[in-house]
Amino acid sequence: MIERLDALEAEAARAFDAAQDGGALEETRVRHLGRKSELTRILRGLKDLSPADRASVGARANRLRESLERRYEEVRARLASASSPAGPSSGHDVTLPGRSIPRGHQHLISQVLHEVREIFHGMGFALAEGPDVEDDWHNFEALNIPKGHPARATTDTFYLRPDVLLRTHTSSVQIRVMEKQQPPVRIICPGRAYRNEAVDATHHFEFHQVEGLYVDEDVALADLKGTLDQFLKEFFGPGTEMRFSPSYFPFTEPSAQVEIRCFFCGGKGCGVCGPLSGGWLEVLGAGMVHPSVFRAVGYDPERWTGFAFGAGIERLVMLRHAVPDIRLFYENDVRFLHQF
Ligand code: FA5
Repeated sequence: MIERLDALEAEAARAFDAAQDGGALEETRVRHLGRKSELTRILRGLKDLSPADRASVGARANRLRESLERRYEEVRARLASASSPAGPSSGHDVTLPGRSIPRGHQHLISQVLHEVREIFHGMGFALAEGPDVEDDWHNFEALNIPKGHPARATTDTFYLRPDVLLRTHTSSVQIRVMEKQQPPVRIICPGRAYRNEAVDATHHFEFHQVEGLYVDEDVALADLKGTLDQFLKEFFGPGTEMRFSPSYFPFTEPSAQVEIRCFFCGGKGCGVCGPLSGGWLEVLGAGMVHPSVFRAVGYDPERWTGFAFGAGIERLVMLRHAVPDIRLFYENDVRFLHQF
């Protein structure tokens, strides 16, 4: 009987090891450990053996059953880990809670560009676009800045070829729109501008502007003031105070620098507006479209009048959120970005 049990052990061990899937393993378990198996039959027949045989055969048969049960568990675990990527040998614990995936969101500058579009959309301005790579005509000539004009020196330009450049302002889009469309025109153009400048806390070589243009009969400076006052109140808050001071742009006459009263110090002078500013912060340039610009695009300056403005988006955002350095927008430090 003992020899038979030894033979059974070898046979059953081979059968368990050969099982390639759950079905074959279960079949082997039933054949060698099930109710009708030879081993069960031997265990049940122990009571009929002599006391001496019962002790020795009983001990051997029980050891065999334990060893086959162990082998069955080992093979079952091996098959489970091979068929599942989350099995024990993959190093994953499927009972642990999942790890959350960090989610990004829109960059602050993109959020503000969207907000600015919405504000002007509410005032009836349509969206216009133009290329970042511009020609000399649209960026300078048609805007009343001929070759040799001193205003060309005020923006250090990235030239790609003698007459092709990265636009230094979004004002080039004014020309593109007017060349294609007859008045009335009421557009805004948010987009990138490029200047070959040394980077510091308030200057970047690549930044964003939003351009506005309104052309119709009898457009007055008061319309420009009303439009910008509405925009600045929606953007900075209803209590925002605005003022115009005289300025110069070749493509507008008269031209104005638009300032708001510093809302951090209420106009006393502080770290944001600077001790010498008198409490006013410069936010954008604007003016009435110059007759030469109308002539360049084929509009009759005797009939049409219009206003235009151009604001630096980064500067607006820096003022509203007290961001001390323009470089923070482009360093992609998530500790900064996730605050907005
Ligand atoms: C212009 O670019 C004119 N095209 C604006 C304009 C449009 C005037 C229509 C009249 C009518 P200016 O160079 O001042 O103007 O630039 C406008 C704004 O762009 C500035 O007030 C500033 O907010 C922003 N800006 C200019 N240079 C930089 C720079 N290097 N980095 C970040 N922002 C800048």
